[in-house]
Amino acid sequence: MRILVGTSSKMNLTSTEAAGYLDTLRPLVADLLDRDLFVLLPFTSIWIARDRLEGANVGWGAQDVHPEDAGAHTGDVSAPMLADLGCAYVEVGHHERRRDYGETDELVMAKVAAVQRWGMTAIVCVGEQERLSFDRVVEIIAGQLAGLRAFDPRRLIVAYEPSWAIGIGASPASPDWVAGVHDAIRSELAGAANGTVVPIIYGGSVSLESAPTLLGQRSVDGLFVGRQALDPRVFAAVAHVEPAASGESTAS
Ligand code: PGA
Repeated sequence: MRILVGTSSKMNLTSTEAAGYLDTLRPLVADLLDRDLFVLLPFTSIWIARDRLEGANVGWGAQDVHPEDAGAHTGDVSAPMLADLGCAYVEVGHHERRRDYGETDELVMAKVAAVQRWGMTAIVCVGEQERLSFDRVVEIIAGQLAGLRAFDPRRLIVAYEPSWAIGIGASPASPDWVAGVHDAIRSELAGAANGTVVPIIYGGSVSLESAPTLLGQRSVDGLFVGRQALDPRVFAAVAHVEPAASGESTAS
């Protein structure tokens, strides 16, 4: 499977800033033809990605979507609007949306349906809210993934993002933990995906230092980078990281 490396800028990068970001990033990753790269921007900056990334080896997308295609939903943005801007990816169910807007698994699945209806790939974020036992975490994630059976596995990416590992002051989950959870997700998805292997990426305080070891873990198909990737040079460097052979630890 091709390694996937993506970032969400979260509520950062005005359209003017996004232009500078993408103009810096594009040449720095132009050599990475054997990997899939993506940048998820705020709705207001996505048109800049369409403008600046046309023909590049970096896909673009959104950080959320409304489950319905159109109608009386003030302030919301629909999947056809994102598809029209050339989005290939739409993130759904991020921890911060579940936390700030009370998004439920049911709503997240309705968003996956909307994304796939419009031919885009859904990046479905799963993960526990607090540090819990391994068995409990696997149980929680199985619940979050339960509805995915209904969807096209070829247009799915699962992002494991334990909320305790996300954001300023946090540190990434340990590589062993990530390997175990990703294995569990892989077997959970195996039944649902009809032989298609759904990529599973890890997110939560990924940095240039932690990336090689995380990427070297079993069942880790890629990385989802947050705040560290707000510098396009760092994102480009993480995108170039080679998986560390197991036993070779670079994580701090
Ligand atoms: P972080 O964000 O890298 O800033 O922790 C990760 C994420 O939310 O995907």
